[in-house]
Amino acid sequence: MTPTFTVADIRKTFLDFFASKGHTIVASSPLVPGNDPTLMFTNSGMVQFKDVFLGTDKRPYNRAVSVQACLRAGGKHNDLENVGYTARHHTFFEMLGNWSFGDYFKRESLKWAWELLTEVYKLPADRLLATVYQEDDEAYDIWTKEIGLPPERVIRIGDNKGGRYKSDNFWMMADTGPCGPCSEIFYDHGPEIPGGPPGSPDEDGDRFIEIWNNVFMQFDMAEDGSVTPLPAPCVDTGMGLERLAAILQHVHSNYEIDLFDALIKAAGRETGVTDLNNKSLRVIADHIRATAFLVSDGVIPSNEGRGYVQRRIVRRAIRHGYKLGKKTPFFHKLVADLVRLMGDAYPALREQEQRITEVLKAEEERFFETLANGMEILDAALDGGAKVLPGDVAFKLHDTYGFPLDLTNDVCRERDVEVDEAGFKTAMEKQKAQARAAGKFKMDKALEYTGAANQFTGYEHLAETAKIVAIYVDGTSAAALKTGQNGVVVLDTTPFYAESGGQVGDEGVITSGSARFAVGDTLKVKADVFGHHGTLEHGTLNVGDTVQAQVNTAVRAATMRNHSVTHLMHKALREVLGSHVQQKGSLVNADRTRFDFAHNAAVTNAEIREIERRVNEEILANQPTQARVMDIESAQKTGAMMLFGEKYGETVRVLDIGTSRELCGGTHVQRTGDIGLFKVVSEGGVAAGVRRIEAVTGANALAYLQQLEDTVHQAAGTLKAPVAELNGRIGQALEHARALEKEVAALKGKLASSQGDELVTQAVEVKGLKVLAAALPGADAKTLRDTMDKLKDKLKTAAIVLAAVDGDKVQLAAGVTSDTVGRIKAGELVNFVAQQVGGKGGGKPDMAMAGGTDASKLPAALASVTGWVTQQLG
Ligand code: ALA
Repeated sequence: MTPTFTVADIRKTFLDFFASKGHTIVASSPLVPGNDPTLMFTNSGMVQFKDVFLGTDKRPYNRAVSVQACLRAGGKHNDLENVGYTARHHTFFEMLGNWSFGDYFKRESLKWAWELLTEVYKLPADRLLATVYQEDDEAYDIWTKEIGLPPERVIRIGDNKGGRYKSDNFWMMADTGPCGPCSEIFYDHGPEIPGGPPGSPDEDGDRFIEIWNNVFMQFDMAEDGSVTPLPAPCVDTGMGLERLAAILQHVHSNYEIDLFDALIKAAGRETGVTDLNNKSLRVIADHIRATAFLVSDGVIPSNEGRGYVQRRIVRRAIRHGYKLGKKTPFFHKLVADLVRLMGDAYPALREQEQRITEVLKAEEERFFETLANGMEILDAALDGGAKVLPGDVAFKLHDTYGFPLDLTNDVCRERDVEVDEAGFKTAMEKQKAQARAAGKFKMDKALEYTGAANQFTGYEHLAETAKIVAIYVDGTSAAALKTGQNGVVVLDTTPFYAESGGQVGDEGVITSGSARFAVGDTLKVKADVFGHHGTLEHGTLNVGDTVQAQVNTAVRAATMRNHSVTHLMHKALREVLGSHVQQKGSLVNADRTRFDFAHNAAVTNAEIREIERRVNEEILANQPTQARVMDIESAQKTGAMMLFGEKYGETVRVLDIGTSRELCGGTHVQRTGDIGLFKVVSEGGVAAGVRRIEAVTGANALAYLQQLEDTVHQAAGTLKAPVAELNGRIGQALEHARALEKEVAALKGKLASSQGDELVTQAVEVKGLKVLAAALPGADAKTLRDTMDKLKDKLKTAAIVLAAVDGDKVQLAAGVTSDTVGRIKAGELVNFVAQQVGGKGGGKPDMAMAGGTDASKLPAALASVTGWVTQQLG
């Protein structure tokens, strides 16, 4: 029997083995691939080396080994819906991989794989088999002749996926580029498990499980499908950690390995489920890994892109908890267990434990608000034994109750019901169309423009001679614009920037002879056609007129300062807070920059100071900005920051500002020094996990600081203290005020109780009972009670009402001496008075309090007390 390895042992053994063969150990890269707006998530170990294969990146090593955190959910690779249904599917998993960048090739790769599996992990050789690409005699011979695997256990697989090089054993990174044949190593779990060997009709069973893929990248594939040999062939391998662990721990399911065993127990603890084979516990255990790692890498639940995949996974886990009887947030409590289990291998997880817990908890709280109602709807729809869930129900669940479609599918699959997905799509489209129609109704009528695109010269020029090519009045095309009319003017060439990428449109003037058109905003009529929106102040403008277009230079310069500084701030935020900081929205105008980003805690004062310091340092370095237009692939190679989900055109603009590099079509300062000064003016939360920073530059920064300084000087003047002593003096003044307040309260008490002494004489006697009803000006509740006690002592047998007034508000106390409680109830007495002053109260038989809101009625109310008491005494 093979020795037992824990997951931690397997990782370490793998890394040590390849390190001993001259490989550099490389850390796992984030689940969000650096700078790749096209790839949803890191789905294999080679993602962080993509550029090395392409030859556009060089590393100081040519052999590498890693244990890579991977996610196959959303995107091209998606195993989400299989989780919980099979023994080996995960959303999140770890891939063990080794790489040769133009160094060793097939022989070493396969021999080392064999050595590690059989000599180090000590897998029985007779349980292993391999596949090779049909034409790859070299790999076949290495297996059979050099390693000694019997020929019947080396299976050739050809182009089995419908085309040249379309094969399970030919691996490509993309449609073109580096590719090559691969050899997969399989483990035979034994004849008692159903399933056939690779290439056989029942290869999908669980008996023969692929554990390790060795890809030999030796070709470069052109668009026409032809291949040419790469100058330096490479190796890319990947082995699923969980699958290997299942074998090395003698279990058939990945969910029985040590790491999952502990996570499933934790899920059982939180959901109160003791049957650890429960499928829902597996789902929860899988999903806590995926979602916690995603938060740690900056992905927060949202309604689009990666954030929506995150939301789908969290909600799917919550629904399984709900099924187990959980009606309140529980999922986030597993983060602590995960950190205990995986925090050593992935320190970022431990560092961010609190943040991850909070983000998941917030999402749970949100979903629990609608989950029960949604489930009721779903149950009702399926009650009659329906076999298909109507699409509009699935859509309603999605739209109103936050049920992602795959969650609904998951519930239905459990009950053997199908979801009408086509109907769901139709309902979704219908709603979108309605929303569009409503939006159009509110918007200015869309402008019909069929002419050529205009030329934009505003990167270099702020004034331009141009020709009017179109005019719109009230949303319809017109030949001319007359004095006083509002309209939209389109020019053949314009220096005006049209709103996009968060930067507002330019303002300025368009003139021709005596005609003067004041441009308030510039907005795109459509891509590359800019509409100048404004009012014709005098004269007439006609289509065909030659005009002078002049951008408001001061406004534009202030806007550019704010835009350029946004790039510097974005970079500083990532450096200071971490690379999970991702842009969630921005607005740049002449007044300020507003920047929303993913981060789950308030940015501390110290962090803001550090961000300000870094940005201002870049400003002082006064580096020239540089804009280069290039194709998207070349841009990617420059390492410029790109935003996921953003649709970039074929050619893009790479902008270097200071040490920042981003893709951006906006207008920018010429040198960082033009920004002048950068100052953050506010920081706060806008949504769960999203913070907003606002900052100012240039003259606005100066004005902001001057205003603050004026406030400080005014305060110093008022306190007659030098600015340097202001804080101490404010502290003293507050201290002094507090001491005075205390003194006043004490004096008020004294005054009120001395009034109380005098009141004794005002008591009237009714049938052997002293009755007293009086106001105590300036008293508070405590004074009322204290005075009441004193009066009871003095009057011996009495019923007393005391009142205090503060503005319209009345406070009442009614007291009855203990020998009188049988005759008069304090509660009734106080309420008799209270209802006359618009209030109500209660208390014990000998003492009750009440409040009222109409002080003007108090004198009459107090005067009525003696009569009421007389009546009570009968
Ligand atoms: N990149 C290869 C795979 O994912 C090793 O299978």
